[in-house]
Amino acid sequence: MLDISFTPNPNPKPRPDPDTLVFGKTFTDHMFLMNYDAGQGWHHPRVEPYGPLPFELSCMVFHYAQEIFEGMKAYRTPEGKVRLFRPYENARRMNSSCRRLCIPEIPEEDFVQAVKAVVSADRDWVPDKAGTSLYIRPFIIATDCSLGVHASRSYLFAVICCPVGAYYPEGINPVKIYVEDQDVRAVKGGTGFTKCGGNYAASIRAGERAEEQGFSQVLWLDGVHRKYIEEVGSMNVMFKIGGTVVTPELTGSVLPGITRKSCLELLRDWGYSVEERLVSARELFDAAQTGSLEEAWGTGTAAVVSPIGLLAEGETRVEVGGGQIGRLTQRLYDTLTGIQWGTEPDPYGWMVPVE
Ligand code: COI
Repeated sequence: MLDISFTPNPNPKPRPDPDTLVFGKTFTDHMFLMNYDAGQGWHHPRVEPYGPLPFELSCMVFHYAQEIFEGMKAYRTPEGKVRLFRPYENARRMNSSCRRLCIPEIPEEDFVQAVKAVVSADRDWVPDKAGTSLYIRPFIIATDCSLGVHASRSYLFAVICCPVGAYYPEGINPVKIYVEDQDVRAVKGGTGFTKCGGNYAASIRAGERAEEQGFSQVLWLDGVHRKYIEEVGSMNVMFKIGGTVVTPELTGSVLPGITRKSCLELLRDWGYSVEERLVSARELFDAAQTGSLEEAWGTGTAAVVSPIGLLAEGETRVEVGGGQIGRLTQRLYDTLTGIQWGTEPDPYGWMVPVE
C-alpha cells in the first residue's frame, strides 16, 4: 500500500467542451509521480499539479528509449460514479513490458492505487457525455544521466490523464486500412508484445504514408515472412470470415490488447467460433473476393471497437461489409461500451470503482 502525498493544483483549468474533445490534447489538473532508485526501490509516491518537469538532456530515455507505457480509461456511469476498466490487466501488461525493457516492476496493487489516486483527484474531469471517457496514460522512463547503453538505475513512473471522445475523426464510422509492404513494426524476440515507445516510433513513417494516401492506419505484416497479419497501427484486428471470428495469434510480436481479450471473451460467451491463428493477407483478400469476408474491425483502448470498411494492398481495394459497420462489430461495440459506461450490467466484474 503506497502512502501517497497530495498537493492540490492552486490553478485548476476550465473543463474543455465535451463536444469538441480531441484525443490526447488536453490534460487534467494533476499527475501521479513516483521515483525509483537502485538500492531504494520505488519511493516518494505523490499526486501533484500537472506541469513540466526539468530533465537533463543526458537523461537515458532521450537516447535509448528505455520507456514503456499503458493506455486505459475511466468512465462515468449515469449515476455519476467513476470506474476503471480492467486496471489489473494493465498492471500485469505493464510489468510484462518492464521485464522485457529491464525496468523494475511495480506491484499490481500499487499501480492500481496510483491510477485511482490521480483519477480521484481529477474525478470532475471524467466527462459524462455519451462516447466520452478519461484516457489514462501511465508510463515509466529511465532517468539516469548517462550515455552508456545499459539499464538505468533510476526511473520515474508517472500517470497523466486527458478527457477524450472518439480516437478516429470517423468516430464509429468504418476506417480505411492499407497493408504495409515496406516497413515492419516488430519481429519475434523483439519488443512487439510490449507497449514501449520505440514500437510506435518505428511505426510512424508507415502511418504518415498511409495518411497521405487517405487511409487511417496500416495493417502490419509479420517481419519475417511479410505474409501474416499482425495488428493495425493502434489496434488489434479481427475478421469475421464465413461465420467464424479470426484474429492473429499472439506470436510475440503482437500486442496482447485488453480490448482484444475482452472481445474474445464476449464472442466465445456468445457462442461464436473464434480462431486465434496465423492469418495471411492473401487469405483475407481471397475471402473478400469470394464474399466470405463479412466483417473486419480493430480493437484497442483508445479506439474501442472500430469497424474497418476498406482494405487495400498495392492497387487492390476491397470493401468490407459494403463499407458499413457490421452487425457483430456493432454488437461488440454496444456491449463493451455499455459495460464501460454502466448502461449495461457487468457480469464479468470488469469495472473497478474509483473511491
Ligand atoms: C491505446 O489504445 O491505449 C493506445 O495506447 C494506442 C495509441 C493511442 C498509442
